[in-house]
Amino acid sequence: MANIEKASISGGHLSDGTRYGAAKVSRFATSRYGTIGAAFLDSALTQDLKNLVPGKRVLDIGCGAGNWCVTAAQYGAKSVDGFDIQSEMVELAKQATSHLDMVHIQVGDAADMPFDDDSFDVAISLFVTCNLPPNGFAKHFQELHRVLVPGGKALLLIPTDWSHSRLYTTIEADPSIVKSEMVQILSTVPKYPTTSQVTEAFRNIDDILVTCFAVDDKGEIFNVTNTSQLFRGQPIWRKTEVMMFPNFFYSDQSTIDQFVTNGFHIDRVENHFTEEKRIIYNKSNPAIPLSNDYVKHPTALVYHVSKPL
Ligand SMILES: C[S@@+](CC[C@H](N)C(=O)[O-])C[C@H]1O[C@@H](n2cnc3c(N)ncnc32)[C@H](O)[C@@H]1O
Repeated sequence: MANIEKASISGGHLSDGTRYGAAKVSRFATSRYGTIGAAFLDSALTQDLKNLVPGKRVLDIGCGAGNWCVTAAQYGAKSVDGFDIQSEMVELAKQATSHLDMVHIQVGDAADMPFDDDSFDVAISLFVTCNLPPNGFAKHFQELHRVLVPGGKALLLIPTDWSHSRLYTTIEADPSIVKSEMVQILSTVPKYPTTSQVTEAFRNIDDILVTCFAVDDKGEIFNVTNTSQLFRGQPIWRKTEVMMFPNFFYSDQSTIDQFVTNGFHIDRVENHFTEEKRIIYNKSNPAIPLSNDYVKHPTALVYHVSKPL
């Protein structure tokens, strides 16, 4: 895997999808994690915030377009500070929250947070760690610990091992047909492809719910079928039904190691993609049902952690 860095993914802050195409980006923005993610995640996270934020000083790390800053303010946060490394996102978040006096938005780095020690009662970091290269990944957890008050709580949403090693399709799509289409496309993608080349190549396969690609030591792109093909911090691309975005791979264990190393208490880990919810979802969305494999194995987990007193 020595040449992996030649793959054209760097910076670790390119997951917004703004270069994907207006229609798909707007679908992502209106349903936050795409139609499928939103069905399971938005309602659960909203409830989590409702429980966590009333009267609290809240930090939204990698706030993106500011959706969760608005939610936190609506549920009675005393103050909300949101920051993001991309100035375009910061502008969107500022617009979304301009009517809310208690919300402050700025540019900032999750690996070097622009706040004093012990500044927040609650912090959220939703689908941000997957954007961070290894050094930034480790520092994000140190910084999270630093800016929280003792007794402070954090909520993190992080993709799982499973989501990196599976091809999830819709029920209607035959996975073997989708796979053979992917094999055909993979043979056309250049060595050490750029994100836009990968995105362009896979633009038209809409039956994919979630899958992941990486580059091998010869520079060839491949579909990941087992996380043993990946190493910690490896650049990858994740495709959802709405877009393709560059990320870095971290196993569930790497996340837990960071909590332990930095002295967090893990209060609970939640899977919002339960089978029960999948069945309810499929009954109410017969046009775009989920395949059996999807949801049984959670694609993302919510970690509830706290900084001990
Ligand atoms: C998938 S989006 C999630 C946005 C938001 N948390 C939400 O749930 O709607 C990831 C966000 O993390 C931001 N980001 C990536 N790397 C970052 C860093 N080092 N510091 C701060 N924000 C970062 C990206 O710009 C992007 O807006």
